[in-house]
Amino acid sequence: MFRILKREQLSEQVWRYRLDAPRIANKRKAGQFIILRPTSQSERIPLTIANANADEGWIEIIFQVVGKTTMVLQALQEGSSILDLAGPLGKPTHIEKFGKCLCIGGGVGVAPLYPIVCALKAAGNELTTVIGARNKSLLILEKEMAAQSDLFIPTTDDGSNGRKGFVSDVFKELIGKGEIFDAAFVIGPVMMMKVTTTLTVAEKIPTFASLNPIMIDGTGMCGGCRVSVNGETKFACVDGPEFDAAGIDWNELIRRLNSYKMFESKARDDHNCHLEGALK
Ligand SMILES: Cc1cc2nc3c(=O)[nH]c(=O)nc-3n(C[C@H](O)[C@H](O)[C@H](O)COP(=O)(O)OP(=O)(O)OC[C@H]3O[C@@H](n4cnc5c(N)ncnc54)[C@H](O)[C@@H]3O)c2cc1C
Ligand code: FES
Repeated sequence: MFRILKREQLSEQVWRYRLDAPRIANKRKAGQFIILRPTSQSERIPLTIANANADEGWIEIIFQVVGKTTMVLQALQEGSSILDLAGPLGKPTHIEKFGKCLCIGGGVGVAPLYPIVCALKAAGNELTTVIGARNKSLLILEKEMAAQSDLFIPTTDDGSNGRKGFVSDVFKELIGKGEIFDAAFVIGPVMMMKVTTTLTVAEKIPTFASLNPIMIDGTGMCGGCRVSVNGETKFACVDGPEFDAAGIDWNELIRRLNSYKMFESKARDDHNCHLEGALK
């Protein structure tokens, strides 16, 4: 059992939980994730380790409530416990002194980007960070990201906070102004990553994207998280989740993610009916 030490709402549907997990806090590196099961009735879901403190023995997860399991997780209160937590899983992000790095995060993808931004900064890189969301109420970790970045540009689709437009528009503007980057890190919704990395790769910037296929065991056994990179099958849980964006078959990833939509929507509706029934 893993106790929820602190529970905080960051935006409309996004929560940050601090969990008592000293062994994971001690081992984790930027880019790694955990697989958790909130209760004995729940599915196992992957969430990135957004922050950790080895001395105090805690890790933080930041999650968006999108379906049944994240709804169950969000219903757990401070002081209660999460049933199982396995990790740290996945390969850590390759961190070195690249020079000038561009970090782009969209939606809740800003959470998994944060530990990478911190690690790149600690390695002596100069950082331009661009984060985006649909509107002001969905933009997260602004203060934390700004504190780590040499140039920080928040954006919203509707202009309610920061620049108006998409993160990819900001990238085009930076390149238009003659900016040069030695590496780019992109995390967010799949379509945002596909569009943005197509632009960065066209500018010959080595680009890394963190993929979010369906994961089940997280240990390379089930094949659920397979993705194609440079024509080879890779398992995102053990070979990733980060890959060289130039070789990712984005269309296959989008097709595979969409194939479960019907079941996810039924699980969410059944869960809502069950909750409504319990309240009557
Ligand atoms: C390596 C990795 C790291 C992630 N880190 C974060 C994070 O830090 N914060 C965050 O909010 N989300 C993160 N996600 C996505 C998160 O796992 C899903 O939002 C969650 O599983 C949704 O479960 P659900 O039952 O609430 O929703 P569902 O209704 O079951 O699904 C909603 C959407 O979530 C995704 N999803 C569902 N089940 C899984 C699964 N077992 N594995 C992967 N994706 C799934 C699908 O895209 C699906 O369309 C990460 C995913 C991966 C693969
Ligand atoms: S989640 Fe099963 S192989 Fe990756």
